[in-house]
Amino acid sequence: MPDKDTNNRVNETGEAEFTPEMNPPVRDEPLTEAQKARKGPIRRFLDTPPDNTVKTVVVALALCLVASMVVSAAAVSLRPLQEQNAALDKQVNIVEVAGRYEEGMDVAAAFADFEPHVVELATGAFADGADIEGQVLDPLTFDDRAAADDLTLSAPLDDDPAGIGRQANYVTVYLLRAEDGSLDKVILPVYGYGLWSTLYGFIAVEEDGNTIYGLQFYEHAETPGLGAEVDNPRWKALWRGKKLRDDEGDLKINVGKTVTAAGPDYHVDALSGATLTSRGVDSLVRFWMSERGFEPFLERVRAGEI
Ligand SMILES: Cc1cc2nc3c(=O)[nH]c(=O)nc-3n(C[C@H](O)[C@H](O)[C@H](O)COP(=O)(O)O)c2cc1C
Repeated sequence: MPDKDTNNRVNETGEAEFTPEMNPPVRDEPLTEAQKARKGPIRRFLDTPPDNTVKTVVVALALCLVASMVVSAAAVSLRPLQEQNAALDKQVNIVEVAGRYEEGMDVAAAFADFEPHVVELATGAFADGADIEGQVLDPLTFDDRAAADDLTLSAPLDDDPAGIGRQANYVTVYLLRAEDGSLDKVILPVYGYGLWSTLYGFIAVEEDGNTIYGLQFYEHAETPGLGAEVDNPRWKALWRGKKLRDDEGDLKINVGKTVTAAGPDYHVDALSGATLTSRGVDSLVRFWMSERGFEPFLERVRAGEI
């Protein structure tokens, strides 16, 4: 209640009561040891001066601990969402490289038109449901990247133009069929090293097993404006209609600065200012389209067996 003379707040015994507006009381007398001992350890810690070394270190460690717990909790709780987004992004790319993508479309519905199969690279045969040392190859769940690191499903590469180290023996391909059930396109996963990173993407090949419909990367870390121009729609458009093999069946597709003797049908211009990334794309496309890649499967496509 307020003192009637000074208008300050006083307690029942008439002593001035401190309010938030007033300065805190100044302690003239230092605390006795008995008073200090009565305080708890936390209170004693908080009462140490702010420039105390132990206090500084403890506060810094506590902050680090809290921050790392928040980051870990966020990483763990967001992982399913990240995986879901990565799967959706891959679907968008498959739909897009096949020329079926439209802004705002239901990607999952469009992706349902694609027929996934696990292919054995060496033979080009479907291996859906095959049991490889206890691992059943389900095309809906087969993880190509994990397979490339799995010792039972992959083999090391001595001659490794794509810079991938190991190659999986099995990969998932996607078939797109016309309404009458005939084959329209095959979507094949390709990857390999550029300048700074491994580029992961898909190549769409038409039903003749030889004409490229599109090439698209969904993951890489090349430099924006230089190597990352692999994502430039104008450069991607250069791939449409290019041929993999000539009439003799020799692999002729190439990315480079100058048109080779095979002619423009087999040539895609290298990105200017990004010769090294372009060279990586050239190597990875030629590797995956070769006998060590999808050629056995593409032979079956050309033979009308798919
Ligand atoms: C910071 C920096 C980033 C670069 N990133 C790339 C890249 O992602 N891809 C690439 O091929 N070249 C990149 N380059 C350029 C290469 O070092 C090299 O100069 C270029 O590939 C040569 O291409 P050009 O013959 O078409 O000029 C980069 C250079 C610098 C300085």
